[in-house]
Amino acid sequence: MNVKSTALALAATLLLAACAPRSDMDRYIDDLMSRMTLEQKIGQLNLHSAPGFVSAARVTEEDENVKLLRAGRLGGLYGTGNLEYIRRMQEIALESGAGIPLITGMDVIHGYQTVFPVPLALSTSWNTELVEQTARIAATEASASGINWVFSPMVDICRDARWGRIVEGGGEDPYLGGELAKAYVRGYQGTDGIYDDHDVMVCVKHYALYGGAEAGRDYNSVFLSRQEALNGYMRPYQQAACAGAASYMSSFNEFEGIPASMNKYLMDDLLRKAWGFGGFIVSDATAIAEEVNHGIGDLQEVSARSLQAGLDMDMNSDGFVGTLQKSLAEGRVTEADIDRACRRILEAKYKLGLFENPFKYLDATRSVKEIYTPEHLAFARKAAQESMVLLKNNGVLPLRKDARIAVVGPLAKDGSAMAGTWSMSDHNDESVTPYEGIAEVAKASYAEGSWLFKDKELEESVRFGLFKIFRPGYTAPAIHTVPQERLIAEAVAKARQADVVVACVGEIANLNGEGASRTDISVPDAQEELLKALKATGKPVVMVLVTGRPLTLGWEDAEMDAILNVWSPGSEGGHAIADVLFGDVNPSAKLTTSFPRNVGQLPLYYNHKNTGRPHPDDEPYRKFVSCYIDEINAPLYPFGYGLSYTTFAYSPITLSAPEMPVDGSVTASVTVTNTGSRAGDEIVQLYIHDVFATSTRPVKELKGFRKVHLDPGASVRVDFTLTKEELSYYNHGLQWVCEPGDFEIMIGPNSRDTDGTVLRVIG
Ligand code: NOJ
Repeated sequence: MNVKSTALALAATLLLAACAPRSDMDRYIDDLMSRMTLEQKIGQLNLHSAPGFVSAARVTEEDENVKLLRAGRLGGLYGTGNLEYIRRMQEIALESGAGIPLITGMDVIHGYQTVFPVPLALSTSWNTELVEQTARIAATEASASGINWVFSPMVDICRDARWGRIVEGGGEDPYLGGELAKAYVRGYQGTDGIYDDHDVMVCVKHYALYGGAEAGRDYNSVFLSRQEALNGYMRPYQQAACAGAASYMSSFNEFEGIPASMNKYLMDDLLRKAWGFGGFIVSDATAIAEEVNHGIGDLQEVSARSLQAGLDMDMNSDGFVGTLQKSLAEGRVTEADIDRACRRILEAKYKLGLFENPFKYLDATRSVKEIYTPEHLAFARKAAQESMVLLKNNGVLPLRKDARIAVVGPLAKDGSAMAGTWSMSDHNDESVTPYEGIAEVAKASYAEGSWLFKDKELEESVRFGLFKIFRPGYTAPAIHTVPQERLIAEAVAKARQADVVVACVGEIANLNGEGASRTDISVPDAQEELLKALKATGKPVVMVLVTGRPLTLGWEDAEMDAILNVWSPGSEGGHAIADVLFGDVNPSAKLTTSFPRNVGQLPLYYNHKNTGRPHPDDEPYRKFVSCYIDEINAPLYPFGYGLSYTTFAYSPITLSAPEMPVDGSVTASVTVTNTGSRAGDEIVQLYIHDVFATSTRPVKELKGFRKVHLDPGASVRVDFTLTKEELSYYNHGLQWVCEPGDFEIMIGPNSRDTDGTVLRVIG
């Protein structure tokens, strides 16, 4: 990203482009654009949501989108997988204006009709092949539903669990985030560079730095230096571009005082010129109009500036379609600005094959055969099994199948909580619940146990707020109809008759995700009251934690006998929970976000800087060093942490050579042994620390990981190759450099418990 080399590369690309023969696609689009009116070109830059969001809307001539289509003023639609609706709209698109087919998008985030664990959960599998396969299946189901463009992957790095959208991403680490981003792109788009009818275009979001929202409040401003942004946050976006991502979605936040959707540095300088991205960029929903609130100008001004900064498509603001013609007349944008954006969108449609066959993704026979199949559901079960993190176990797990089990808690029978946020499936409520999964295997009783929150109004707005916005005329059902004391008494009675209690508590789907920031990230109060009452029975209590974010679990960690964090595990959640609880599957997932002890520690992340007055993470307060009076610095559960039903031992780390020329390579190795009595998977993690550098460097940075399977007593040697790529960073001048000197190389089962040695890099 060195400025000089970027400029040279750009000059070379322009020269090559000028000399290169026009491709078939270029000629096709040249011809098409030569026949399009200005209004039709601007129309291509306009994206709207389908009416009723996901409802099967009937198409009438009064429909706003139909009117726009007829006038050639709509380039794409999103938010529905209703095949008949999309087919009719596609027919209208072909009959109207320049006869250009629509691109059809959808928020396919963690599966489509078959629901996989939420993305944060999937990331804890550290299994990029598994993640790729979930995206592959989602692409199959989406493309069988008329969708050719998915608003995924969400690759925002987040260090603050107050932000509800932490659930949609891959956690706090840029290296792991980059590997996951590539896996998603491969899964959705396929790997051969050609879109067949089972491949869909991705839309990488939210570009950029949305996860850095100040204080974890959604949509909030981001205050990061360019250097910290590049080192700590950008890699996943960049890796997605390297993997061939077709489109990006600009984010709601500002960066360096400029809203992302009009930020030339982000869109043009970095994404396009430095990373070589050649696709199109769409704004997030109403993000252009929101630039008025950011205080930049009126809708005409912000639309013009967004286009000039490199944004190509306007989602739901009607800023481009409503003002660009006027701006052109007034000389505030040029025809070349409009042509450039239009061409990028037409190229995407061409690559999708929509000009050849506008009905390519509208095969009704596929929609009955390829969606929500037993094979897809079986894979959802596997994905969920690999995405559950065992946070604590005093030996109560795995459970015996002949035990009498009291399954209690407000989430024990909640299918939609299993599906989680951003699930657009028609089958959310059918997701297998913890109770159903457990009752299939063992003798189980059930009690609801508690409300979600003691505050009725709060619970109502969390449960039903979303429906009130998207379902006109929606009437919320009554809640808190049974007193909390009675619910608890029933659960306690069931617990007393059982050998063991499984308490299913945490966050329902609407308690995380978009517009769901929290200042208190503990288990909601009414549910905590239930846990305390269960504990008082003296029965062993296993907490099944349903959540989309790290929670503060200090009391639970001290008092519960076991904690299995199942996140929102998807369609097959309940089966996978039973698989793990009863030991048919040995848990192997490891956290990709630090779990704080106290919300006041946030933002909290393992790859922090050292400060001039560092203080050991686990030592109590001391004056004049970097710590808190009332809490230690260490997280409750660190990045990379997760337990198994077996144990693993690590040998000391060895290097193939103690020194490495800056252009050379070195292998770092450990031998890992399964020292327990069950077969299990271990996620082996490699971290580095640049001891002295010209800029300050994090105390640890993940640079490699391997997932290995080991039978009891078996050992495996795990090798990691290190080159200057793993040891480089963006220095103060924003150059990607590997600075000679000493590097600590550390390997271990999580970011806390590593063993290290020193590698000298020679310049
Ligand atoms: C807003 C969200 O931020 C984004 O993630 C989503 O893709 C769009 N709405 C479209 O639904």
